[in-house]
Amino acid sequence: MHFLWLFYLPSLALESHAAGEGGLEFPTFDGKDRVQEINKKNYKQELRRHEMLCVLYHETLPQDKGLQKQFHMTEMVLELAAQVLEDRDIGFGLLDSRKNAKVAKKLGLEEEGSIYIFKDERVIEFDGELSADTLVEFLLDLLEDPVELISNSREQRAFEKMDEDIRLIGYFKGEESEHYKVFQEAAERFQPYIKFFATFDKAVAKHLTLKMNEIDFYEPFMEEPVTIPGKPNSEQEIVEFVSKHRRPTLRKLRSEDMFETWEDDMDGIHIVAFAEEEDPDGYEFLEILKEVARDNTNNPDLSIVWIDPDDFPLLTTYWEKTFKVDLFRPQIGVVNVTDADSVWMNIASDEALPSAEALEDWIEDVLSGKVNTEDDDDDVGYSDEDGEEEEDDDEDDVDDDDDDHYG
Ligand SMILES: *[C@@H]1O[C@H](CO)[C@@H](O)[C@H](O)[C@H]1NC(C)=O
Repeated sequence: MHFLWLFYLPSLALESHAAGEGGLEFPTFDGKDRVQEINKKNYKQELRRHEMLCVLYHETLPQDKGLQKQFHMTEMVLELAAQVLEDRDIGFGLLDSRKNAKVAKKLGLEEEGSIYIFKDERVIEFDGELSADTLVEFLLDLLEDPVELISNSREQRAFEKMDEDIRLIGYFKGEESEHYKVFQEAAERFQPYIKFFATFDKAVAKHLTLKMNEIDFYEPFMEEPVTIPGKPNSEQEIVEFVSKHRRPTLRKLRSEDMFETWEDDMDGIHIVAFAEEEDPDGYEFLEILKEVARDNTNNPDLSIVWIDPDDFPLLTTYWEKTFKVDLFRPQIGVVNVTDADSVWMNIASDEALPSAEALEDWIEDVLSGKVNTEDDDDDVGYSDEDGEEEEDDDEDDVDDDDDDHYG
């Protein structure tokens, strides 16, 4: 071993990291501009020319140097995505909300700072983390067929394991089936946020207990799907069913649609659970959370957002500071989405995690308003069943909190 290292080290040193070794070459911006200004002269042509057009709708460039830098960084995310996806048929553009207000209006753009993707006759808003990774993944998902086929038992097992996502699966006679075509049309409306699958295979359908032309809807983390009533379904029936059921009892925050999820609050609040799936405590807590979600899946007032801090390294310190919690341990709390005020269930570090019953009691207190973000100043926090007092009784004292969580 040592001998080999000595042998290889000099050659490693000669090749710079920037050049990279074969097989792991991260793209860096090559300096070629691929993102162009979209204006009244070129927008129709750009829409026609590409399979997809990805447009950042932005405010007029500010005078402030700092803000200009910020804008430039956003622009670079688009440039890098454009470079990486150069071989795909995607156009990239910037649209100035003041300079090209008329074009924006024609295209139906509303939210400054948002990215819109034009595909066929549809406009899809990208409501995810503005990083090149997330954007590229999103665009690649959009280029794929809206419906993925499940044709054998191996694919069917993989399908059954995807329990974090909302999924639909339908059983149809074949490609030419009119009901399958209707299903495809419906799928396009939700692509890439909600995954649509289909099978033409009798054995797969039997295993998933699907009858001909039947469509099942899988809520995340639930064991049993719900069948869309009234088969064969029209496009409108499918769209309405999905729209009505798309807010699950337990959902995972994903970088590709995190802002959309956050905007979908429950009367101004979110019940948020932090748990690292790779951590034993986090994993166990998540299992308890799933149990609670399954028991309460018919409660329309309950939707818990699960955040795995591992998925959002750039936000972890911000969350710890804002919510005053230690994210190395599982946490569940209520967050007011207006002012990010929050209150957290007291989970003692040296004790077992709360049982499903204790968690359910706490959630009940949240839904009834007994536990809320407005009372925490006068210390009417939750104390759990065995009468455990909070060690840190001054929640307003930041220093105290820090001692408690990190000391
Ligand atoms: C959230 O905070 C805002 C601003 O402090 C407050 O007006 C509102 O009542 C709070 N909402 C809830 C549900 O507690």
